[in-house]
Amino acid sequence: MKRGFIFFFIFIGLIFLPPSVFAYVSGPCSNCHTMHYSQDGQPLGTDGPHQYLLIEKKGGHHSSACITCHSSQTSSTYEDLGGCKVPIVFYYGSSEPTSYLAGGNFWWVSKEHGHDDTKGHNVLGIAEIDQNLSEAPGPAITCANSCHVSLAIKQTAVTGLGSGCEGCHTHVRHHANDHPNGQSGWVNSAEQGWYRFLSAAHSVKPEGVEGYEHGLWEAGLHDGGNHQGATEHNEYLGSQKTGGYGFNGGLGHTVTAFCTGCHGLFHTDQYDSGWIRHPSDAIIPNKGEYANVGGDNHLYDPLSPVARQSLSDPPSDPGHVNPDSDMVMCLSCHRPHGSPYPDLLRWDYTEQIAGGGGDDKGCFYCHTQKND
Ligand code: HEC
Ligand code: HEC
Ligand code: HEC
Ligand code: HEC
Ligand code: HEC
Ligand code: HEC
Repeated sequence: MKRGFIFFFIFIGLIFLPPSVFAYVSGPCSNCHTMHYSQDGQPLGTDGPHQYLLIEKKGGHHSSACITCHSSQTSSTYEDLGGCKVPIVFYYGSSEPTSYLAGGNFWWVSKEHGHDDTKGHNVLGIAEIDQNLSEAPGPAITCANSCHVSLAIKQTAVTGLGSGCEGCHTHVRHHANDHPNGQSGWVNSAEQGWYRFLSAAHSVKPEGVEGYEHGLWEAGLHDGGNHQGATEHNEYLGSQKTGGYGFNGGLGHTVTAFCTGCHGLFHTDQYDSGWIRHPSDAIIPNKGEYANVGGDNHLYDPLSPVARQSLSDPPSDPGHVNPDSDMVMCLSCHRPHGSPYPDLLRWDYTEQIAGGGGDDKGCFYCHTQKND
């Protein structure tokens, strides 16, 4: 009798939970969709109509539907869209942003502002074709008119695949039922849209990235402050493997598999010993200078993220880095969108001076004695 009572209340509770708890994006359809791209007989925006019947967000940069929602002239982190939080990746105010999300920001590479080809991926609608690079450096495969050549062109190599943002975010699933908007959670399947909608464009099996998504995309953690020991951040998967590239290369559902889909040679040349390129997804040894990674207390630093051998929800020990287990990976040093520094680096490489003293940041996060 008592148990029946409890079930009854759980049942009633489920009925009265707002539906948005189960969805990813939330709010009235018309906040984000337009049925005919027409109002009072006039086109609704300047650039459409768009795929998925998407609107052009007011206050967004008018170059594509993805960019209108994910850009802003007033915020460099996130914005409210009718009660739903939208992450901002392209801030286009006049001075450079002082804080940004995990992926960095496109401000520095954009035509209007930074205009520096080395400080971001040149993406359609934000920047022109890179003047220095005629294709993705370290290509293991390449084909004409594709995202391997430039993300700033309309690709024609793979039918059905988008261009620009969608050259990397190939699996957009805004309605995927993973974790509520604004809250964190572990994403490890195609049904959930993979980690940040990142997956292969054309591998044999449609594989994607697994990861633990910070609900606010690490807003507040990249503002120049010291956030060592932070316990709320993204968590990335790593997979120790010699050679190979991309999701077909046996690298698992890792960010490194994702990046090497276009920059393959930067991992194919990776052997067990005798590095000839900096390793990615190599375990940080518990010896020598590496044994002191993250300092005496092994504090995790979102400025120098590492990849874990396995993930869980919630993460088992997010505040710490574990030598002999965690790995260095592409995102330990780079931001995928753009940064204030050349080569999309997470920190100023010109300030990394051997024997120069200073904090254990950047290279010195792992190479803890090279600044001594
Ligand atoms: C906060 C923004 C937002 C709201 C609110 C929203 N959508 Fe979407 N929706 C999107 C975006 C962005 C896409 C782009 C493609 C994708 O990610 O699947 C999309 C894609 C879709 C798709 C195609 C992909 C799929 O999942 O089937 C359908 C259908 C859809 N929306 C229907 C709706 C309906 C119906 C409503 C209202 C009940 C709604 N949407 C409310 C943002 C939104
Ligand atoms: C070169 C590949 C690439 C391109 C091009 C790209 N992204 Fe991303 N994006 C990523 C990766 C990788 C992450 C995950 C970053 C992390 O969690 O550290 C990400 C994260 C994001 C996020 C989550 C916020 C964040 O910073 O973590 C959003 C939103 C996003 N991207 C939107 C876009 C939009 C919109 C575009 C086009 C203007 C775009 N991306 C172009 C690779 C890319
Ligand atoms: C109508 C507004 C709108 C449009 C258009 C839109 N997005 Fe989004 N996007 C959102 C919102 C809202 C979220 C936050 C959903 C969440 O994670 O809770 C989001 C989240 C994302 C994320 C991060 C997903 C995550 O796991 O946090 C990526 C990546 C992304 N969008 C890429 C794209 C791409 C690529 C396009 C173009 C095909 C696009 N978006 C178009 C509103 C939009
Ligand atoms: C879909 C293909 C694609 C993927 C995936 C991709 N890149 Fe790139 N990358 C390119 C292209 C094309 C260029 C050259 C043009 C440019 O800079 O936009 C490039 C350039 C770069 C550069 C040099 C930038 C410069 O202008 O000097 C870096 C660094 C880089 N990528 C890092 C990464 C990292 C890290 C990842 C994974 C998070 C990644 N890339 C994923 C296509 C890709
Ligand atoms: C230990 C830090 C570190 C890691 C890990 C790392 N990179 Fe780099 N990367 C750099 C630095 C520093 C540069 C620029 C200077 C140099 O190459 O020495 C660079 C340059 C690049 C370039 C530009 C090369 C050119 O020809 O202009 C690309 C592309 C790139 N990295 C992609 C990647 C990818 C993909 C991964 C993961 C497989 C990765 N990086 C892992 C530090 C790193
Ligand atoms: C997140 C940790 C991490 C960061 C950050 C990092 N490295 Fe490394 N680095 C490693 C690991 C792990 C190895 C391989 C160690 C081993 O031999 O097992 C390595 C190897 C190297 C090697 C080759 C060492 C050898 O024994 O052959 C050089 C050189 C190097 N790193 C330079 C750099 C520079 C320069 C930077 C900054 C641009 C940097 N690393 C940033 C973790 C890191």
